[in-house]
Amino acid sequence: MRVDHLAERLHSITPFYVMAILRRAKELEALGHAIIHMEIGEPDFPTPPLIIDAGIACLQSGQIKYTPAAGLPALRSNIAAFYQQRYSVTVAPERVFVTPGASGALLLALGLTLNPKDTVLMTDPCYPCNANFVSLLNANALAIPVTAATHYQLTPELIDDCWHPGVKAVLMASPSNPTGTIIPPLQFQHCIDAVQRNGGYFYSDEIYHGLVYGSAAFTALTWSDQVFVLNSFSKYFGMTGWRVGWLIVPEAFIEAAEKLAQNIFIAAPTHSQVAALAAFEPATIVELEERRRQCSERLDFLYDGLCRLGFTVPIKPEGAFYVYANCSAFTDNSYQFALDLLETEGVAITPGIDFGRYRANEMVRFAYTLPIDTMREALNRIERFIARA
Ligand SMILES: Cc1ncc(COP(=O)(O)O)c(C=O)c1O
Repeated sequence: MRVDHLAERLHSITPFYVMAILRRAKELEALGHAIIHMEIGEPDFPTPPLIIDAGIACLQSGQIKYTPAAGLPALRSNIAAFYQQRYSVTVAPERVFVTPGASGALLLALGLTLNPKDTVLMTDPCYPCNANFVSLLNANALAIPVTAATHYQLTPELIDDCWHPGVKAVLMASPSNPTGTIIPPLQFQHCIDAVQRNGGYFYSDEIYHGLVYGSAAFTALTWSDQVFVLNSFSKYFGMTGWRVGWLIVPEAFIEAAEKLAQNIFIAAPTHSQVAALAAFEPATIVELEERRRQCSERLDFLYDGLCRLGFTVPIKPEGAFYVYANCSAFTDNSYQFALDLLETEGVAITPGIDFGRYRANEMVRFAYTLPIDTMREALNRIERFIARA
C-alpha cells in the first residue's frame, strides 16, 4: 500500500508526545519498575456504583438497540434539568444532543459550523485535539498565546486583535486543560460578546465543570443561548470509557444537528446513556462532591509541593485536575526533562509541547489523579531528580 495515498490533512494533525512517554512507561513497568503516572487525564476514581448498576441492568436486558440520534429523551431532559438546577439556566431538552463524549460533541459542533479554510481561534496552550479536529474538517486553527495574566484564557481584546475575515469561530475551555484555570465571569461574558459582535460562533468546552475548587465556573449559556456548549460524563462523573457526553446547540441548529449526528455516529452507546441516567441521582452527586473535595486537597498538596521544589506556577489552578508548571529553573527542554524524569525516577508527566508552541519548552503538566500518598512519593522522586540534574 502506498503511504502517499494518505490524506493530506494527516500532515497537519499532530501526534501526542505524551504517547512516547506512555509507551516508555509501559516498557519500564514490564521490566518491573514502579511508575507513577501523572501524565494521564482521567480520574483514578471508579465509575460511581449506581451508574455501573444501571449500565449492567441495561446490558442484561439485552435491549441494546440504537437510541434516537439526539439521545434518549429521558437523558436529554435530565441534562436540561441539570442546567436549571446547577446554573439557573433554562435549556429546552430539544437543544441537548447526547454524543460519544465531548469529542463527539466537538465534532458535531465543528461539523455544523465550519467550511474548509475557515479559521477557529483558540488558546495556546490548549487541549491538543481541538486543532486536530479543526484540521480534520480542512479548516485552520489559530492558537493565540495566552499567559497567567489573563488566566491562560482569551480576552475580548485578543479576540478583536486576531479577528480577520477568515475567522469563523472561537473555542474556549474553562476550566482549561492543561492549566486548570477558570475564566473570570466578566471576561467570559465580554469574550462571548466580542465573538458575536464579529459575527462568529462561540464553542464553550465545559468538560471540567464540576471539578472546580475555588470560584464557580459559569456556563456560557448564562449570557447567550446562541452558543455551542460541550460537556461530558467523562471527568466529573467518572465515566471516561463509557463514551458519553453532550452538546447544546442554539435552537436554529436543532434540525441540522439531528441530521449530522445520525450520519456521523448514529447515536451514543445505548447502555452508556442508560447508565448516565443514574449520574444525576442524589446519591451519585453526594459521592461526586466528596471526590471533588478530595481533588481539592490533592491540588493544594501538589501545588505547594511543586512550588517548594522550585517549579513556578504563576496562577494557582482552580479546576480540572492539572497543574501546568514552569520547569525552566531546571531545563530549557521540557520534553527531554519529562523523558529523563521517567527514565531515572519513574515519574511520567506531560511535556508542554503537547499543548501548543508558546513557551512550551518551559512547561510541563502534572495530573493529580492520584492519592496524596502516591503524589508524596512522586515529589520525593522529583526532588531527587532535580538535585542530581
Ligand atoms: C478540554 C477537553 N475537552 C474534551 C475532551 C474529550 O473528552 P471526552 O471525549 O472523554 O468527553 C478532553 C479529554 O481529556 C479534554 O481535556
